[in-house]
Amino acid sequence: MLGTRLTLAIEGGLPLPEAGRIAVFAPRAGADLSALPKDRVEVVTGFRPDHVAFERQGYAVKTAAEGPYAAALVCLTRAKAEARDLIARACEVSEGLVIVDGQKDEGVDSMLKAARGLGQVSSPLSKAHGKLFVIESGDFSGWRAPAGQVVEGWQTAPGVFSADGVDPASALLAAALPSLSGHGADLGAGWGYLSAEALKASPKITALELVEADHAALECARVNVADPRASFHWADATTWKPARMLDFVLMNPPFHQSRNADPELGRAFIRASAGAMTPRGVLYMVANAHLGYEAVLAENFGEVERIGGDRSFKLFRAERPSRQRAPAGLGSGKGRQRG
Ligand SMILES: C[S@@+](CC[C@H](N)C(=O)[O-])C[C@H]1O[C@@H](n2cnc3c(N)ncnc32)[C@H](O)[C@@H]1O
Repeated sequence: MLGTRLTLAIEGGLPLPEAGRIAVFAPRAGADLSALPKDRVEVVTGFRPDHVAFERQGYAVKTAAEGPYAAALVCLTRAKAEARDLIARACEVSEGLVIVDGQKDEGVDSMLKAARGLGQVSSPLSKAHGKLFVIESGDFSGWRAPAGQVVEGWQTAPGVFSADGVDPASALLAAALPSLSGHGADLGAGWGYLSAEALKASPKITALELVEADHAALECARVNVADPRASFHWADATTWKPARMLDFVLMNPPFHQSRNADPELGRAFIRASAGAMTPRGVLYMVANAHLGYEAVLAENFGEVERIGGDRSFKLFRAERPSRQRAPAGLGSGKGRQRG
């Protein structure tokens, strides 16, 4: 784990600067940063549950680095392009050390190998199924991802869910939606595909609130959903509360807590949707065929219907929400995921 490796590295002589701010890129909620001087740490993360978790611990938190810093620490993410981009950003803003930490299953070994090809890198400290190494010099600017990319006419960004194009599950749900009306929300709206399609197909939608935890994805959604009925919330969908109760909710909920598919976050989304709707509200959702959402749908809605699907995905329509609130924070603090 990061905390163990960081402590060992510092005890082993990692020359942390005596003064100046230290940027910590993309740590997950629960990551132990206590080996660093808290008053000099600035956490940089665009993932809302992580952002809030570190803020609550008293850390200074930003969505983008505001350099220069005396040193930087990069916590690797699984998306390779995003992880490389974080390293390039860290090298840009740090006037001193750039420390890189990651688990084996986050690709730290291949990142170390690639970093050695571009610069001077310390020997790694290996512990707790991961590695920590220091980039001492080198030119990593080629790893900087373009600020954004346009794929099939949609604005996306490195590391966001389905950055390379439309997600097939969202496409399936969009194609199955009836004409919607009233005030709704898209929980886990990503870069906005589902919302954009729903708004295009349903002139009677009066307002659609896009709720998304990934700051970069939401910024893309602002570009992709240029419809005056849309509004945008950088928020944890499992704790977000609409200003007024909703007539409908759309969602393709996230299904990873860490490496493995885990339906618990999706279940929290379902509870949150029931708690956010009027008694006549209707939920439309798509899910991976192998994930079990039926029981939680039945607990939270009076009527649940399968409205289609294929071998990979299933589509649900659920009505008569029982208005149970999601337990606060169920979606937070359990790591970062993209879909
Ligand atoms: C399966 S993707 C669906 C994306 C989008 N609806 C689409 O049209 O393709 C799930 C989205 O939920 C977001 N997400 C994950 N955890 C979240 C949370 N706690 N609150 C809000 N959004 C979250 C992810 O960043 C991702 O964009």
